[in-house]
Amino acid sequence: MTGGPILDIGGFEAPILVFGGPYGNLEATRAVLAEAVRLDIPASRILCTGDACAYCADPQATVDLLRAAGIVAVMGNCEESLAGDGADCGCGFASGSACDVLSRQWLAYAVAHLDAGAKAWMRTLPRQVAFRLAGRRFRVVHGGVSEISRFLFASTPEGEVAEEFRRLQETDAVIAGHCGLPFSRIVGGRLWHNAGVIGMPANDGTPRGWYSVLRPEGGDIAVEHRSLDYDHAVQARKMRTRGLPEGYARGLETGLWPNLDILPDAERQRTGLPIAAGSLRWPGRCQVDLRMT
Ligand SMILES: [Fe+2]
Repeated sequence: MTGGPILDIGGFEAPILVFGGPYGNLEATRAVLAEAVRLDIPASRILCTGDACAYCADPQATVDLLRAAGIVAVMGNCEESLAGDGADCGCGFASGSACDVLSRQWLAYAVAHLDAGAKAWMRTLPRQVAFRLAGRRFRVVHGGVSEISRFLFASTPEGEVAEEFRRLQETDAVIAGHCGLPFSRIVGGRLWHNAGVIGMPANDGTPRGWYSVLRPEGGDIAVEHRSLDYDHAVQARKMRTRGLPEGYARGLETGLWPNLDILPDAERQRTGLPIAAGSLRWPGRCQVDLRMT
């Protein structure tokens, strides 16, 4: 058993910054933490949806930075796997698939480049974080409520999202990560929010990462999807120098994922279409399609 079940971090009346998937990308992690400083958001109101280490070249330095920053993080499937020196990333890809082959390469690198302290930290991470923002009750998970590695997208049928909500009591909103793409949607009046990830681009043909700011505003919460620019060339160079999969190094530069195995048709068809930043007010307004704003 790794990690505690639920960590309650209390209530807030001020902006929250959310990001996912640092993926061992030190430059992107530095950049998002610098954004938090610029926005005057302290570590106690910064949430990471997990997967501290994955495709990129700096797993140890990224964990060290996250720990030193003192932000709040939930356990991702990558932490679950790495903390136990796992043989795969825990996503459940079919043996021999492109994702399976690629994940074994970066996972072996990450296992070899994380010290015992980093793995022990991963084991301590909660599987869920609870908090209140402007009186709304939030729960933070990695993939889904039902499973740490559940992929939920903007196009996932509404009934499946509703079923995830049904597993939680006294919760108005869920913040999740894992799927790598930013989106927000309202299902049955409740908010499902994914900030996206910072450590890989969003398969939109640009090298930007994605994070979000949730801001109390006139009784509602403004949900702002924001893009993150950072020095991706430095990280791509390090990945090549250290022999990590070329597809992910190139992906940092092109903004395109090396394989699309996990994507539903709707998201796959948007490959290479640049995402525009967008925002919504909840519960005051309905969902936003980031590509349309
Ligand atoms: Fe994940």
